[in-house]
Amino acid sequence: MNLEQAKKILGEEFRRDADFLSSIVQKLGLPINSKVLDVGTGRAHMAMILALNGYKVITGQPSDVYWADWRVSAKKVGVEEMITFKPFNAEKLPFNEDSFDAIFLYTTFHHIDNKERAFNELVNVVKSKGIIVIIELTEKGVELVRKRYRSHQDAVDPRDYTKGLGLKVDVVESKHLNAYIYKKIK
Ligand SMILES: C[S@@+](CC[C@H](N)C(=O)[O-])C[C@H]1O[C@@H](n2cnc3c(N)ncnc32)[C@H](O)[C@@H]1O
Repeated sequence: MNLEQAKKILGEEFRRDADFLSSIVQKLGLPINSKVLDVGTGRAHMAMILALNGYKVITGQPSDVYWADWRVSAKKVGVEEMITFKPFNAEKLPFNEDSFDAIFLYTTFHHIDNKERAFNELVNVVKSKGIIVIIELTEKGVELVRKRYRSHQDAVDPRDYTKGLGLKVDVVESKHLNAYIYKKIK
């Protein structure tokens, strides 16, 4: 199924960020057999965008925090088989060093308690030429979300937590979301 069909089936919540997320995935041009991790499953929008772009994904979050039955959505758009769920906490990832070509966190980073510890874990499990993509709400994005969830946290800039980790970052900006694309430089 293509993204336009999926946007019709999955509705407004998915549709809102789908083009931006998909454009980031396409910009990276990862080989189709890349090992891809999605941290913070939530409604699995990120995992489904990756799967709709042809990538198999491992996705996870702490097992006791379920936001939605994402499998129902994944089934509707025919990508359930592409997505494997594994319970984990970003602060202590159950993967070996150098396991992933790319790691994605879409509006997950601001939910993590110990952000420095989590980033160290991400750097540890990504391969030496791998990519870590943190997609976070801008201040305007937070304003929009607060119309529905009034107590939503302030916008977070991941660069405040990544100094001294030996990473280079490119930022792709949009009105409601920024994508921070990190690569290892040592
Ligand atoms: C807004 S949702 C993310 C949306 C999701 N990425 C998507 O594509 O639909 C935030 C998620 O972060 C997860 N989360 C919070 N703390 C976490 C942690 N320490 N490690 C991994 N996931 C975490 C929560 O379980 C929640 O599902």
